[in-house]
This record gives sequence, structure tokens and C-alpha cells, in this order.
Amino acid sequence: MRKIVLAAAAAATLGFVGSAAAQQPIIIKFSHVVAEVTPKGQAALKFKEEAEKLLPGKVKVEVYPNSQLFGDGKEMEALALGDVQFIAPSLSKFDKFTKQIQVFDLPFLFDDMKAVDKFQSSPVGKKLLTSMESKGYLGVAYWHNGLKQLSANKPLIVPEDAKGLKFRVQASDVLAAQFQQLGANPQKLAFSEVYQALQLGTVDGQENTWSNAYSQKFHEVQKEFTESNHGVIDYMVVTNAKWWNGLPADIKAGLQKAMDAATEKNNEVAEKLNADAKAKIGTTSKINQLTPEQRAKWKKAMEPVWAKFEGAIGKDVIDAALKSSGS
Ligand code: LMR
Repeated sequence: MRKIVLAAAAAATLGFVGSAAAQQPIIIKFSHVVAEVTPKGQAALKFKEEAEKLLPGKVKVEVYPNSQLFGDGKEMEALALGDVQFIAPSLSKFDKFTKQIQVFDLPFLFDDMKAVDKFQSSPVGKKLLTSMESKGYLGVAYWHNGLKQLSANKPLIVPEDAKGLKFRVQASDVLAAQFQQLGANPQKLAFSEVYQALQLGTVDGQENTWSNAYSQKFHEVQKEFTESNHGVIDYMVVTNAKWWNGLPADIKAGLQKAMDAATEKNNEVAEKLNADAKAKIGTTSKINQLTPEQRAKWKKAMEPVWAKFEGAIGKDVIDAALKSSGS
């Protein structure tokens, strides 16, 4: 009798442990490098909210902003190792993994964010989401930030003004070439290091969106901004292809739905967050506007970069992007 009771108790215990294990939510880590008040920061939080609402008890999403968990240099490797499940690097940061995505870095390619959006939604744009699959990375969404602006501690009105200055760039050969073309010195630096580099004078200037510049307090160490809109900072949300493909169908569908909601939120708030940040920067720093002639000079100075990278990126990809801009 005692034996039977013990066996029943053991079975019950095992059963309990078994069902508890089955009920453990899947922990999903989402790491990024910007502040929570930026478009990407807001979208990552929306993804968490939606995923946990759609898959109650089944997933737990942990969002790590501000390079807290992984910074620029480490996040792709961490994703490959399964230490994080989603990251959303700027499109400039896939340089090492595929050259095609570098199309987004070509200066003055897109007239506005509508053109960027149109290209990302086109068949060629969508195909870029899977361009790193052979390396184990899968793109699940594009998220907007916005157009880039220049800054330094002197006015940048014509391309000659940039000559001899050191500019921080993201880890992209196209962006480095863009500043070399101006006779300036590009320095590749992780996003988390930019403020200090500007403060210490390791670099003299930088290019970024208004929301990134404001949330990183670049205006404290940069007196002059130029509304140049010369390029774009957007993101690809990427996941580990093997992990994603191995998820149960219901989880995958729920996460995809949550991702769609996050994308919608991101693209809804991006423009406003950049406009608000620009207004705030304008209270302490000078914002220089360019005449059409001055802007044309920057375009002409940076243009040779296109020919340099056409072979690596692919003319078909560049042409498809140009078509979205109506060119
Ligand atoms: C940068 O490094 O300047 C940006 O890519 C940061 C970001 O993620 O927006």
C-alpha cells in the first residue's frame, strides 16, 4: 500500500514538474542601442506589449535598450549564438554580412521617407530581408527612423566646410567613403561611444537623425546642425533563422502579428519624434538650412560614392531604389 502511495506521489510530483516545465514562457530577448524615447525604442516596447498580450504565459519579452545588453560590435554575434533573439541594427551595420543592403547608405538616394518606404515594400526591398539567411540571420521587418543631418562645432554650409574634419560614422564602408569624398576623415565608432568622442574632440562632427542626436544629447557638444537630409537611418529587425524556423506555429504567428503591430507603431511615431527632437535641438544649437544650390553642391561632392559601390551592391538593387524615388 505504502509503495503505491509513494509511487502515486512521485507520479504526481513528476506530473506537476512536467506541466510546470511545459508552462514556462519562452524568454525572448530584444536588444538595441538607442534610448527608449526613440522610434526604435518605442517600437521594441510595443512588440513586447503585443507579444505578451497575444501569447499570454507563452512568451516573455525582455527589452534591453541603450546597448545595455549588447552594443554595436557584439549584437550580430550574440544573435548567432542565441544569446538574444531579436536585434534591430541600422541598415548601415550589415556591411560585413551583405553588400546589397548598403544601397540604403548611398548619399542622396532617397528624396524622402516615402521613397524609402516604397523601396522597402517593393519586391527587391522585401528580398533584402532574406539576403543574410545563408549566414543564419533572417530579417522580419523594416523600421523607420528618418533622414540624417550633419553636425559639428562650425557651420557646415558647403562641402568644403567639412574638409579636414573628423566625422563619426557607423560601421559602413559606404559612409566612410562618403566623408572621404569630402576630404574629411571618417572614424567608425559604436553608437554608445559617440557622445564622449564628440565631447573629447576625438571626432569633430557626426551624422544622425534628430531623434538619435537629441536622445544622446549630441546638442550639448555640437553647436551647429545642418538640415541636410542627405541619407537615411532605418532598421532591419533580425532574428536567428534557425530559432525562428523552429518555433511552434502558434508562437511564430503570434510573434509575427506583434511584430506587425510594432512596425505600425514605429512608422506612426518616427516622423513626430524626429520633428520634436529637432525643435528641442533648435533651442540650444543653431540649425542651418541649405539653399537648393548649396544642397546640390553636397550631392555633387558625395556622388562619386555611387560608382564606387555599384558593383558590390548591384545595379539592379540601386535601380529599384531609384525607381521608388521616382527617378
Ligand atoms: C548609429 O549608430 O548612429 C545608429 O545606427 C544608432 C541607431 O540604432 O539608430
